[in-house]
Amino acid sequence: MEKVFSMVGGDGEFSYHQMGVIQAYTIRKLEPLLVEAIKHLSLPEHGPLHIADFGCSTGKNSITCINFIVKSIAERYAKAAAGETTGHDTTCMPEMLVFFIDLPVNDFNHLIQLLASNKAENGGDSIGVDGADVAKVNNYLSATRGGSFYNRLLPKESMHFAISTWALHWMSQIPKRVTDPNSPCYNKGRSWILGGDPLIAQEFAQQSQLDLDNFFNCRAAEMAPGGIVFVLLGSRQDATNPTNQCDPDFAPGPDYENAWNDLIADGVITTDTRDTFNIPVYYRSKEEVKTSIIKCGAFDIQYLQSCDDESLCPKDELMHMLQFPQSFAKFYSAWARAMMGPIMEAHMGLQATNEFFIRHQRRIAAHATSVLSDPKAQEEYKCFNLGFLLVVLKRKVPKSMEPSPF
Ligand SMILES: C[S@@+](CC[C@H](N)C(=O)[O-])C[C@H]1O[C@@H](n2cnc3c(N)ncnc32)[C@H](O)[C@@H]1O
Repeated sequence: MEKVFSMVGGDGEFSYHQMGVIQAYTIRKLEPLLVEAIKHLSLPEHGPLHIADFGCSTGKNSITCINFIVKSIAERYAKAAAGETTGHDTTCMPEMLVFFIDLPVNDFNHLIQLLASNKAENGGDSIGVDGADVAKVNNYLSATRGGSFYNRLLPKESMHFAISTWALHWMSQIPKRVTDPNSPCYNKGRSWILGGDPLIAQEFAQQSQLDLDNFFNCRAAEMAPGGIVFVLLGSRQDATNPTNQCDPDFAPGPDYENAWNDLIADGVITTDTRDTFNIPVYYRSKEEVKTSIIKCGAFDIQYLQSCDDESLCPKDELMHMLQFPQSFAKFYSAWARAMMGPIMEAHMGLQATNEFFIRHQRRIAAHATSVLSDPKAQEEYKCFNLGFLLVVLKRKVPKSMEPSPF
């Protein structure tokens, strides 16, 4: 998975840079919670202050989010310096160093180019060359890191603030039994687990639990005591039934599965090609995430809230888009392609992937047209609705660092 998985790079029509606008909408809504989380951060006595974004993709949403975090941390230091906060806040703002992290095949070149034109990273208008100036203005230094966030990526106890948005529901791998034609868990006739066989969903659940345990254990090693981990991940409402991953109107629902059927019916691919492809996503329940955090034992939970049945797009905007089914279908299909295109291309090549998305677009246009003629169906069309979880954790002080009673 690590060798092929990425969002579409660059800034073309199917790129995550263009199509990540849906995710950007939810990230903007996080700002008050980010400010709240930053209030709980134990400010380091000495610099640099380290921040990491796990699953930054090609950069547009990540940089916006990081700029906001850096600004909010800087404001906390400014308040401490002005005597507006109580407690033991350090008043001297250190340099901040941000690690942008994603899988090695991510288009880091695009991210680096965006960073080069990002005012905050370049120190705005007032930066000098010495460290003292760097510490005074709202800016930061940056580094990129290619690797899986299910592994250790950063030095021990070095991170003060970690964030991950819309990334942690992507699995490290598809369970082997799911793609083995001789296994009872072979996912025949589908490309995902939505509405599928509970046995197969169980395989996904087990892999996903292993992944999440690895994520928290690795972050537990990397976070400094008092550091904050802030996560937004797609999740499901139905704790008991993992095949009920999301609303069927959402992207990997029947329109997506039917496009696969169309591709087979038109002789572009064989059924085996579809049956051995699986979307590497598992939407966990709040309970599954909580179990993993507690098992890890290294964090205090500051906030764990599910935002169920959330629309990732303003309702009036969706209603407007639906008036034009063809252009809506083009947009919606490109959005799905920005995320799933690269793994589909790796599985069956560019030509078949192009053919798939022609059919996918056609299916969505037909669905949107049918919805258009029925106001009630229009009201209930949940193509952008996905529950998500917001998690804010604070790294406990490891036992070995607790002051000795003697
Ligand atoms: C949908 S994008 C989200 C990008 C950005 N955080 C946002 O919210 O717009 C998910 C990102 O997570 C990355 N990702 C998925 N699994 C990963 C893993 N195991 N390690 C590191 N990055 C991963 C993907 O490569 C992709 O760039």
